[in-house]
Amino acid sequence: PPAPFVDGFGRRVSYLRLSVTDRCDLRCTYCMAETMTFRPKRELLSLEELARLSALFIRHGVRKLRITGGEPLVRRDVMDLFGDLSRHLRSGALHELTLTTNGTLLARHAGALAACGVRRVNVSLDTLDPARYRAITRRGDIRMVLAGIEAAREAGLKVKINALASRGAFESEVDDLIRFAHRRGMDLTLIEEMPLGDTGLDRRASVLSLRELQADLASRWTLAPERAGTGGPARYLRVAETGGMLGLISPLSCNFCALCNRVRVSCDGRLFTCMGEEGSVDLRAPLRRSEGAALQAIRQAIRAKPERHRFDLARMAEPAVARHMSALGG
Ligand code: GTP
Ligand code: 5AD
Ligand code: SF4
Repeated sequence: PPAPFVDGFGRRVSYLRLSVTDRCDLRCTYCMAETMTFRPKRELLSLEELARLSALFIRHGVRKLRITGGEPLVRRDVMDLFGDLSRHLRSGALHELTLTTNGTLLARHAGALAACGVRRVNVSLDTLDPARYRAITRRGDIRMVLAGIEAAREAGLKVKINALASRGAFESEVDDLIRFAHRRGMDLTLIEEMPLGDTGLDRRASVLSLRELQADLASRWTLAPERAGTGGPARYLRVAETGGMLGLISPLSCNFCALCNRVRVSCDGRLFTCMGEEGSVDLRAPLRRSEGAALQAIRQAIRAKPERHRFDLARMAEPAVARHMSALGG
């Protein structure tokens, strides 16, 4: 079988996060600036190129493929991509095909996603309060997301809620989010804000250490570490009172890079081997030349994957990298 992709620290790349657009119908304050310029559409990988690149990664050991954005469901032909990728699930080469979405368009697509073999979706939702949801997303309507979540559950998809933890209102709302998710049999994962891109806001005011929040939660909930994971960066706690799972993604307060198994490809075909790195390697040009050329570019980039990011809670005043989260979908 073709050799797997292994980095310079012996970590095997089994998880690809593939961004299909950098656009989004929302403008979350921690993710984007008020005005953003997006990549011209002609620079995007075509559907056929996305499919070919995915197949190449799968042939070389990727077992988990997550479609991201921006918001992946705003790309018009994204369901055709899911349709194509589903054959790798049927062949058994791919173990999981999934996506991370803001949920606003999920009601429309949930059934088709399930039909393509998607079993699980991660939906971003930071609050249950409609007004706060609008303030965070600048233009979202929480009813759309709630309808999306319901539709996904009705289609038989397992839903995980992602909530970005922040100082202030979130700290008093997190208990409600736990109850909301766990009552519906959904896991809830909390995410530490990362210093990606200039949003025009001071992250020193908003960042909340999950180490600190965990201690606070432990005063109200009985939390027990769980071994079972998803192959993602979260560590999980079982909440005894609800029986549900609470995930913590804490790049700043509790580094998980030693177990890193993933790389990312942006919508214009650039390979990013680490969230905390500025640099990337173009795959679009080599892919247009030959599969061998693309393969060589991927191998070379993965060999140079950094050991870890340099995000630091004490250095949140400035972005650690210029690119916004939306450019790569996290
Ligand atoms: P599961 O398959 O459910 O475990 O999903 P996941 O956590 O791998 O994916 P998701 O898209 O839900 O990611 C949640 C958050 O984790 C996003 O904000 C990502 O930016 C962040 N994240 C995912 N992978 C990494 C990583 O390698 N490094 C860092 N620093 N953050 C990551
Ligand atoms: N730091 C951490 N997570 C972020 N997200 C967006 N911007 C940031 C950031 N700066 C999250 C969203 C979504 C996920 C894909 O990334 O909340 O849940
Ligand atoms: Fe992997 Fe980089 Fe994320 Fe660390 S920050 S887990 S090395 S992608």
